[in-house]
Amino acid sequence: MRNYSLVNRVVIAALFLVSAMSLTIGPAAAGGGNYFPNIPLITHDGQKVHFYDDLIKDKVVVINFIYTSCPNSCPLETARLRAVQELLGERVGRDIFMYSITIDPEVDTVQVLSHYAEKFNIGPGWVFLTGKEDDIILLRKKLGLYMDEIQNGDDLDHNLTMIVGNEATGKWIKRSPFDNPQGLANLIGYDLFDGMVPRAGAKSYASVPEVSKLSRGQYLYRTRCTACHTLGLGDGLGPDLLGVVDKRDRTWLTRWLKVPDKMLAEKDPIAMKLFAQYQELAMPNLQLSDIDVAALIDYMATESRRIAMTNVETSAKDEPDNHKHH
Ligand code: HEC
Repeated sequence: MRNYSLVNRVVIAALFLVSAMSLTIGPAAAGGGNYFPNIPLITHDGQKVHFYDDLIKDKVVVINFIYTSCPNSCPLETARLRAVQELLGERVGRDIFMYSITIDPEVDTVQVLSHYAEKFNIGPGWVFLTGKEDDIILLRKKLGLYMDEIQNGDDLDHNLTMIVGNEATGKWIKRSPFDNPQGLANLIGYDLFDGMVPRAGAKSYASVPEVSKLSRGQYLYRTRCTACHTLGLGDGLGPDLLGVVDKRDRTWLTRWLKVPDKMLAEKDPIAMKLFAQYQELAMPNLQLSDIDVAALIDYMATESRRIAMTNVETSAKDEPDNHKHH
């Protein structure tokens, strides 16, 4: 097992810096049969497809590149894209299509990708794809998502940027999957359609929460944790975190937030039990500083107390009603 953590750290850091960047390939890419390679690929369901003809022609699409053995950045990226998929709802698979293509096809066979899709509970309309390595490199170059210096180095990390586009209009925009999910959903579901699909009853995804007013802990929690966790709403991809600050020993919790990968590698008993319980999806090492971790613990504790108080008030209010009906 190679150590990807340094490159991951650099890539994650770079991403947060450039996440606002966007690039429009523009009309040069329209009529894309000539521009986009029609390479053969196989879906995680084992279906043979061609990139241009079957995946993007006349479609609005989201494309990113992943590899399933990537320990930290890819799971967070996939989890955040899953939030975008949820916001777009049943339009995904109908007029919006999502593709995650492996850059490590030797390891990421159809079976491996199918297991990965299952682990993240990926809904319909989002397809994981594998193919020939040379073809995939060509595709990444054509999409402007290929980084020489990383591909040729010792590390198999990759450019985490994704591209969203409308093949029919030739509008292509690079985005980071770490962008706010509501903002991404709005870009994909409305901007890319150039107002051509104002569907009846369609709601805007533009209710972007104002992050500037959030505390550090709340901001970190919203941007790094909510893709996998909830507080008091039941399990997501990971366990519900309501009351976790009281449930776990503080030293354990602090270390877990800093180096979950290390604790899993050391076979920490609590970590192993959770790992088995949650589809063997490893919690990513999110490269948090000590200050970040303290702020997050603080936020989870405060928020758990607030929710517990609200629950008490609600059940107290319900009492008289219950009696009336008896
Ligand atoms: C890609 C999904 C993912 C992300 C992002 C993620 N986690 Fe987790 N987390 C998990 C999974 C899965 C587990 C269960 C252990 C395992 O399988 O590794 C877990 C376990 C935990 C636990 C232990 C729960 C318990 O019962 O002891 C805590 C605490 C936690 N995560 C906090 C966080 C915080 C805080 C963040 C954001 C900074 C975060 N996680 C980001 C997936 C994620």
